[in-house]
Amino acid sequence: MTTTDPVKLMKQEVGKAAASKVKSGMIVGLGTGSTTAYAIEYIGDRLKSGEIENILGIPTSFQAEVLARQYGIPLTTLDVIDRMDLAIDGADEVDPNKNLIKGGGAAHTREKIVDTLADQFIVVVDSGKLVDRLGSTFLLPVEVMPMAMTTVMKALAKLGGKPQLRMGVKKAGPVITDQGNMVIDVKFDSIDNPTELEKTINNIPGVLENGLFVGVADVILVGEVKDGQPSVREF
Ligand code: 5RP
Repeated sequence: MTTTDPVKLMKQEVGKAAASKVKSGMIVGLGTGSTTAYAIEYIGDRLKSGEIENILGIPTSFQAEVLARQYGIPLTTLDVIDRMDLAIDGADEVDPNKNLIKGGGAAHTREKIVDTLADQFIVVVDSGKLVDRLGSTFLLPVEVMPMAMTTVMKALAKLGGKPQLRMGVKKAGPVITDQGNMVIDVKFDSIDNPTELEKTINNIPGVLENGLFVGVADVILVGEVKDGQPSVREF
């Protein structure tokens, strides 16, 4: 389907570029979000046309699992593989050191497990996701066990953050993750040391994982649009 929406064009183009990196026989981590959804669709198209074969996907969420089934990508699990060739996933922010904030789709816990295991982790973003400093446009997602919600919020406030519980859309009450937990989004005025903050937050009892991905991304593919024409550059 054709579109003139520039953000959609960027996402489609970068999703296609990432899907073109998949070779026959690969085990591929399938990320979550609207950009990765295009990559999953294009991997499915390539499988269907016979351009590639023997692909196995490892989904990072129910969304990725449903899309993979829809587009005919056979799935496997971490229990039965020794290694993973590639992971393709989106991001909410990317800094100049290729550090990321993820978790806009509340899937960052599974995403971090899968993305960090891949030999190569390719991030797919539109140009609006590039920032000079993490935390400038996006709140930091933290997945938390429901019983620890209040104590974790207090601990995050002590670290200088402004925490808020993520609420559902078309669902009354909080967002519940694929693992049955909740998500706290935290506004930090400035994330000066993402490496330290990632560890500090994960050390709070009750926290499953936060959305800082430090030193994990290998390749960042950035979708751009100029004069209505989409293109992709490697960052
Ligand atoms: C989900 C994520 C997504 O990859 C991130 O939110 C980007 O999503 P989109 O491609 O829809 O902008 O981290 O937890």
